[in-house]
Amino acid sequence: MQVLVTGGAGYIGSHACKALARAGHLPVTYDNLSRGFRSAVRWGPLEEGDLNDRKRLEAVVARYRPEAVMHFAALSYVGESVAEPALYYRNNVAGSLTLLEVLVRHGVHHLVFSSTCATYGNPRQLPLREDHPQEPINPYGASKLMIERMLRDFGAAYGLRSLSLRYFNAAGADPDGEIGEMHDPETHLVPIALQAALGQREKIQVFGDDYDTPDGSCIRDYIHVTDLADAHLLALDYLRGGGASTHLNLGSGHGHSVFEVIDEARRVTGRPIAMEIAPRRPGDPPVLTATAARAREVLGWQPRHPELAAILEHAWAWHKNGSRASN
Ligand code: UFG
Repeated sequence: MQVLVTGGAGYIGSHACKALARAGHLPVTYDNLSRGFRSAVRWGPLEEGDLNDRKRLEAVVARYRPEAVMHFAALSYVGESVAEPALYYRNNVAGSLTLLEVLVRHGVHHLVFSSTCATYGNPRQLPLREDHPQEPINPYGASKLMIERMLRDFGAAYGLRSLSLRYFNAAGADPDGEIGEMHDPETHLVPIALQAALGQREKIQVFGDDYDTPDGSCIRDYIHVTDLADAHLLALDYLRGGGASTHLNLGSGHGHSVFEVIDEARRVTGRPIAMEIAPRRPGDPPVLTATAARAREVLGWQPRHPELAAILEHAWAWHKNGSRASN
């Protein structure tokens, strides 16, 4: 089966492409390479293009006639979205609208969408369940929520069936070491800790040690990127099998504090990691953890690497090999 993968040159998209190829499908990456890397596209063709370029997108969809789409392409920095909301609404919301219109026009009826726990906003109860109110506190989360809403309406009106997967903190790397996490600029905790272990940065800043959590630092639910990729394949099977549109959390159900992640990174790397306490980062909720019970029920999804140790070991193997994505 041919699957159009928007954002297939990005971190999670590239891992999904590998999983698709392993399952015998052809992932066709559509990516403008603004944040992704050409070198991460290894399991199918790369069609360069922007979601907002309707002509180009039409041509690619007409050429490959995909049976389904995995839609990863998005800008995803919370801080940047606060400073430049127009970018986020143009790229994420308007871009997705163009994509959905093209898919409907070409009779593509199945879509798996990269949504996020950022659509919930500040948690009222933890762990977060899918029926928690969605009140995003930044334009990034708002842009993803608008896309979920569009998917619902497109489903009702045009028969586009979709599964929105709300990721918690994606981390780790391909266990074979072929691809890994790489952003430019890098803002995520795990790669920053490993860069500090490698001496590529002097230290890691811990954004706040005075939260109302056991050790004072923020708690997040880290989920291995290949477990996310597996969930996308299951989602595809679910939709092809006639499953109704829905949305699911993808998390491990366990929370780890920033200090715990840094300690585990020291243990796994066997290297010192210097840190300093810095002010809180605006927009960081103290705790974000998921219940992923529905993903287990609906998809039969079972994370294969639920332990923080495996996430860090795989990420470390990739980082220390100097594997650097490039365009
Ligand atoms: N952190 C530090 N120092 C750093 C980097 C991060 O202390 O140098 C802390 C953050 O404050 C946070 C935790 O480590 O408490 C994790 O931060 P990340 O930046 O790795 O991840 P986020 O939780 O901010 O982001 C994730 C996803 C986003 C999503 C967001 C929802 O990457 O896409 O959760 O809040 F929007």
